[in-house]
Amino acid sequence: MSDPVKEHVLVWDIPTRIFHWTIVVLVALSWFSADQGSMRVHLWSGLTLLALLLFRVLWGLFGSTTARFADFLHPPRKVVAYLRGQEMALYAGHNPAGGWMVAVMIGVLLAQALTGLFSNDGLHFTGPLALWVSDDVSTRVTGLHGTIFNIILVLVWLHVVAVGFYLLVKNHNLVAAMFTGRKHSRHVPAGLNLSFTRLSNALLLLGLTAVIAAWVFFQGVP
Ligand code: HEM
Ligand code: HEM
Repeated sequence: MSDPVKEHVLVWDIPTRIFHWTIVVLVALSWFSADQGSMRVHLWSGLTLLALLLFRVLWGLFGSTTARFADFLHPPRKVVAYLRGQEMALYAGHNPAGGWMVAVMIGVLLAQALTGLFSNDGLHFTGPLALWVSDDVSTRVTGLHGTIFNIILVLVWLHVVAVGFYLLVKNHNLVAAMFTGRKHSRHVPAGLNLSFTRLSNALLLLGLTAVIAAWVFFQGVP
């Protein structure tokens, strides 16, 4: 009988998996807290997201193979060929189309967290950096903050539809892989040689981005 462990290859490191499922929770919490007018919760979920997103950018430069931008940002020619079904190569991490989608999602989420810092609720709450700009600019940025969230909703919807398409049509469960870190060997290139960055490096980078978020927080404390 075949060994089920050997049939599955580790492709996603722990930091990338924790990052993903934590941002899912925090995006939902950010929406819910804004909806309820719980601005303190909103501030904390937003600042935590900011630290995680900055971490993910650094992890995209210094992290494990499949987490790196260089691994999943391919030239447009390759993306078009992939979307047309002309590209038969297998990818351990994000495929050429998914890779750009991931980069756009990270960029737009970062824009959301950054605009939040300069926003105000028109009542008693202002983002920690709102005092750096005029009231007029803060109000306009708040409008932008609401618009960007609508873009996030569309992207997340497309993202979940794409993942569902892989599951139902292509019979490839990407969601399980985002939990376990492993993909079946039939979905990854033969002779794969991935490198995994030490967990201590991830903690160091996360510590750095947490300090940045804390510094931002204290800018808003009178
Ligand atoms: C607020 C909602 C969500 C956001 C903002 C989001 C964002 C992201 C991001 C940024 C990545 C890239 C991960 C990385 O390389 O660091 C990703 C990957 C992924 N997400 Fe989500 N996600 C959301 C919800 C979901 C949900 C609900 C599911 C499952 C149904 C899901 C399944 C996946 C899978 C399977 C991948 C890996 C895709 C691949 O293999 O290329 N996501 N997501
Ligand atoms: C980084 C820290 C953040 C701060 C300081 C912040 C601040 C604010 C403020 C002041 C408002 C205005 C509330 C009102 O008009 O009553 C707001 C609204 C909102 N924020 Fe944030 N925000 C942050 C991050 C985020 C993030 C990361 C998300 C989602 C991913 C988000 C989603 C929303 C939504 C959905 C609204 C309601 C928009 C609307 O009513 O049109 N925020 N935020």
